[in-house]
Amino acid sequence: MNSQFDVIVFGATSFVGQILAQYLSDKFNHEGQESLNWAIAGRSQTKLDEVKATIKQPNLTTLIADAQDEVAIKAMCDQARVIISTVGPYALYGETLVKVCAESGTDYCDLTGEVQWINRMLLKYEDAAKASGAHIVHCSGFDSIPSDMGVYFTQKAAQKSFGEYCNTIAMRVKAAKGGASGGTIASMLNITEEVMKDPALRKDLVNPYLICPKDHGFKARQFDTRKPTFDKTFNGWTAPFIMAAINTRVVFRSNALAGNPYGTDFKYDEAMLVGKGFKGRLTATAIVAGLGAFFIGAAIKPTRWVLENYVLPKPGEGPSPKEQVEGYYDIRFAGKTPSGKEIRTKVIGQGDPGYGSTSQMLGQVGACLALDKDLLTDKEGGFWTTSTLLGDRLIERLEKDAQLKFEVIS
Ligand SMILES: NC(=O)c1ccc[n+]([C@@H]2O[C@H](COP(=O)([O-])OP(=O)(O)OC[C@H]3O[C@@H](n4cnc5c(N)ncnc54)[C@H](OP(=O)(O)O)[C@@H]3O)[C@@H](O)[C@H]2O)c1
Repeated sequence: MNSQFDVIVFGATSFVGQILAQYLSDKFNHEGQESLNWAIAGRSQTKLDEVKATIKQPNLTTLIADAQDEVAIKAMCDQARVIISTVGPYALYGETLVKVCAESGTDYCDLTGEVQWINRMLLKYEDAAKASGAHIVHCSGFDSIPSDMGVYFTQKAAQKSFGEYCNTIAMRVKAAKGGASGGTIASMLNITEEVMKDPALRKDLVNPYLICPKDHGFKARQFDTRKPTFDKTFNGWTAPFIMAAINTRVVFRSNALAGNPYGTDFKYDEAMLVGKGFKGRLTATAIVAGLGAFFIGAAIKPTRWVLENYVLPKPGEGPSPKEQVEGYYDIRFAGKTPSGKEIRTKVIGQGDPGYGSTSQMLGQVGACLALDKDLLTDKEGGFWTTSTLLGDRLIERLEKDAQLKFEVIS
């Protein structure tokens, strides 16, 4: 395909899109760096011009497209090899772009964590992507790269050391510092609203294998941390990790797409480690109560209105530049093989998980799709995960240019 641009960032005016635009501006096309021919797109010329001015890229091309305007979206896709989308909530604004990319053979990545929407996109457009050759990669941010790539890394290390894969892996967030943006809150509130309108969706949301191919054959009952739980493996109290709802689904899809190398009874779960003793238990209890209050508040109209208007960040708002840089995360994996061998690994990232770090991860997924052409030649079109499509090459990129580190501890 002869496209004018390697990458177009659609939604460059969003909170995370602006950070991404700055990142691409810093990381590409200077001496000694990779060349990336990129442009930005959105629905407002004025706002796109402001982004250009902020990142000091006066010659950057801007394209105008509304997310619901299929003709404009098609015209944008015709000019790019890869579209990176930060226009969300994706369940509200994302479908036309996925449809056009899948039908036209344009590669695509995004930051969605909305599993119910991913499932709808799979059902509607997977055949089209397979036919056109488009590589569609959802979840290319904090959800779910550290989990998906962390499990991939852990399994490769286990295979190398023991000659077998783990059939159980537990992921624990040991430490994390960061905030939430209005766009992320809007996506979470939208899921709550969808469930209120269609209670049947609840069943989908608790299905760990929802986005696996229909013939996945997985039988294992998966464990979900929903209440304060003492974790013997990590010797501490755990609380629910809100991203587990999407990350675990992506990990199971990766296993299925790779041909079930970890086995059909592979077990994987995620939780937050919150400390030891009475204080740990108290913190876990407070987190469970806080999450419960948020979801109840979001489900009831008057409290939802108060949350949206007075408590939570609005679309376009999020952590400060200082918070984006100073944020971090430290994620641990404990794996066990069928013969009882154990492995511990970690993934650490510098930068606010959802924004400072997410924008770097997303930028590198886009660059990998656009520039590492040899990697994709034998990969047919379809809906991939980061680990199954980009594997080691993405880990190299993340470690070199996105401030992540993957390590075997023991
Ligand atoms: N996976 C992760 O780790 C992660 C991390 C961060 C964010 N996210 C997700 O990323 C998404 C963006 O988050 P954010 O906080 O950056 O959002 P945001 O600041 O609220 O931005 C939303 C973007 O969507 C654009 N938009 C809305 N309707 C549109 C339409 N009809 N046509 C074209 N553009 C339209 C907005 O354009 P205007 O500027 O013109 O209004 C803006 O660029 C959210 O879905 C969020 O959940 C995921």
